[in-house]
Amino acid sequence: MLSAATTETIRATLPTVGAAIDDITTLFYRTMFAAHPELERDLFNRGNQSQGDQQKALAGAIAAFAALQLEPDQTRVDLILSRIANKHASLGIRPDQYRIVHKYLFEAIVEVLGDVVTAEVAAAWNEVYWLMAEMLIAMESRLYRDAGVAVGDVWRRVRVLARRYESADTVSFVLTSVDNKALPSFSPGQYLSVGVRLGDGARQIRQYSLSSAPSSDDWRITVKRVAPQTSPGGSTAPAGEVSNFLYHNVFEGDALEVTTPFGDLVLHDDDAPLLLASAGIGCTPMVGMLSHLAATADARPISVLHADRSPSSHAHRAELAELVDRLPSAVMHRWYEDLAARGPESSVYEGRASLNEITVAAGTRAYLCGPLPFMLGIRQGLLDKGVAADNIHYEVFGPDSWAAAPA
Ligand SMILES: Cc1cc2nc3c(=O)[nH]c(=O)nc-3n(C[C@H](O)[C@H](O)[C@H](O)COP(=O)(O)OP(=O)(O)OC[C@H]3O[C@@H](n4cnc5c(N)ncnc54)[C@H](O)[C@@H]3O)c2cc1C
Ligand code: HEM
Repeated sequence: MLSAATTETIRATLPTVGAAIDDITTLFYRTMFAAHPELERDLFNRGNQSQGDQQKALAGAIAAFAALQLEPDQTRVDLILSRIANKHASLGIRPDQYRIVHKYLFEAIVEVLGDVVTAEVAAAWNEVYWLMAEMLIAMESRLYRDAGVAVGDVWRRVRVLARRYESADTVSFVLTSVDNKALPSFSPGQYLSVGVRLGDGARQIRQYSLSSAPSSDDWRITVKRVAPQTSPGGSTAPAGEVSNFLYHNVFEGDALEVTTPFGDLVLHDDDAPLLLASAGIGCTPMVGMLSHLAATADARPISVLHADRSPSSHAHRAELAELVDRLPSAVMHRWYEDLAARGPESSVYEGRASLNEITVAAGTRAYLCGPLPFMLGIRQGLLDKGVAADNIHYEVFGPDSWAAAPA
């Protein structure tokens, strides 16, 4: 907890810091990467840096954490910190690295805010930083301990046992250990990080959800390659670096560097009716969860909702249907934007996903994964149908700015 004097200083300066936080985090990353180029090259995601997503996520998290010291809400603090701690653990972040971040973040605060940063203001924000850092370090150390690894020691070499097209631009990789021992188990819904050495020598890291059941000795991930895109205005976004590297270069028998699984979008330990809603490649954690539910013959009501561009772009389409068939009380609804020909199924719709026609069981717990507009739409539909906000869980396939956004 912050001291009374610090709380007052934070209350007085939060609007000023909040208004400048995007400038502060942008300068922070620029100066930290200038002094430590290895962090930009080999640890941080340079795609997120170019798009400004990570800057936004960091700024949002710090501003929200500071605001939550003034109006405490432990559930929101835990949500924000757990999201970050799991991501940090999946990258092997160590406690000593918090001093590096502190140095460049505080230099950026002083540079951007100038005279506003009196000794008293600096001391107050210093206290907030270290409170947040210590809570993250403690959470990360618990995650490392529970995963049975030393602090930061999360990387292992695995071998690709099988590679399969799940749609034209999506491939799955079954990963097996190199020493014939079973790979560690995980909770359905978790992800691992993959690190690859790219052509320019940089080692870039990305996260991929486990699309297999934890009962298997192997792990499976499913990667959709990110194609280059030209906006209506004519600007071009380049092809995704790691997804294309994996798609074009990694085959059966190849070695991959991956981490122990982490992640907090996991099936809760209760019997609540489930609703799993995904769009596009957001199907991967849901396929993992459904594989687990099918393997454990789960009999509770389960609604599976999936939206995709077309049946042919829907990765794991047949597998999803087969998993739903194996579950005694599961139903599936699918939406395709481009449905050239309608099959015999009654639960396939043309257009965007909507909950209008869907029955949502009382006490449902929902898990969402897909682009933000899709998740916001489904979340609103669930709230309208009486699902408690605390029972709606989600994963963002990028830096999460949603967790820290005002409720
Ligand atoms: C928890 C989690 C789970 C995930 N699970 C999965 C999964 O199961 N399957 C899956 O396929 N993905 C998953 N992802 C997404 C995955 O981690 C990668 O983000 C994805 O594969 C894209 O990585 P990339 O290196 O190919 O693209 P990047 O190179 O990182 O590019 C990402 C985007 O940024 C744009 N960009 C890059 N540089 C610039 C620039 N200079 N100017 C403008 N735009 C730029 C690119 O055009 C692209 O649109 C998950 C992410 C998270 C966080
Ligand atoms: C109090 C200090 C810190 C805060 C508040 C913080 C906050 C965040 C946030 C909000 C994210 C995005 C999480 C998500 O994906 O949703 C993140 C990711 C990340 N953090 Fe931290 N962090 C801190 C310290 C550190 C330290 C010490 C390091 C190590 C140098 C670090 C390295 C990273 C990396 C590499 C990512 C992933 C970046 C990406 O994928 O683009 N962070 N952090």
